[in-house]
Amino acid sequence: MALFEPTACQVDVAAGTMSGATGTYRKRLADLAGLYGDEGAFAAAVQAGGNTIVYDVADFRPSARSGDLIFGITRMSAGCIGEEYYMTRGHIHAVADRPEIYYGQAGQGLMLMESPEGEMRVIEMRAQTICYVPPFWIHRSVNTGTADFVMIFSYPADSGQDYGIIERAGGMRHRVMQGGPKGWQLVGNKDYRPRSTEAVAAVMQP
Ligand SMILES: [Fe+2]
Repeated sequence: MALFEPTACQVDVAAGTMSGATGTYRKRLADLAGLYGDEGAFAAAVQAGGNTIVYDVADFRPSARSGDLIFGITRMSAGCIGEEYYMTRGHIHAVADRPEIYYGQAGQGLMLMESPEGEMRVIEMRAQTICYVPPFWIHRSVNTGTADFVMIFSYPADSGQDYGIIERAGGMRHRVMQGGPKGWQLVGNKDYRPRSTEAVAAVMQP
């Protein structure tokens, strides 16, 4: 069997990029309809600059084999829609028992996690924070700072992403808004619809 060639990628923390990536994608404001609670503020922001980059991702994917690893870098701009901080779309892994590691590089933000049954957890991230996202947790990152929020990530190569689990629930249970002693606070999402017992069981099956 031919072995995969060992590889190194160079991280540019200031730019939030990585050399040697095999793939990249970029999310602009106009790509993120339906994510934010204040639809009027979102429409105004798109009107003012729908091309504004909210976040971009560069990754290295050696293969899709179950024993392999994908790794990469994510950079998120600072900003708000209304009082709600910029965030990633968020997902659960399509193979839901696959975990992920995030390693903070620059800026500050949150890893927002929700179990299929609707329990919420928040990990505060800054440079040198490692966050372990265990299997079965829906996850999304949020930039609560005033500068780029940059993280390295790695997850099993056969994980995949299911974005629909958040959309079907009307979002995550909480939104991250300006305010509170830390400058951010969790606020209940009025659009949230808890998953049915059947929907939870479908996610949790091995
Ligand atoms: Fe993930």
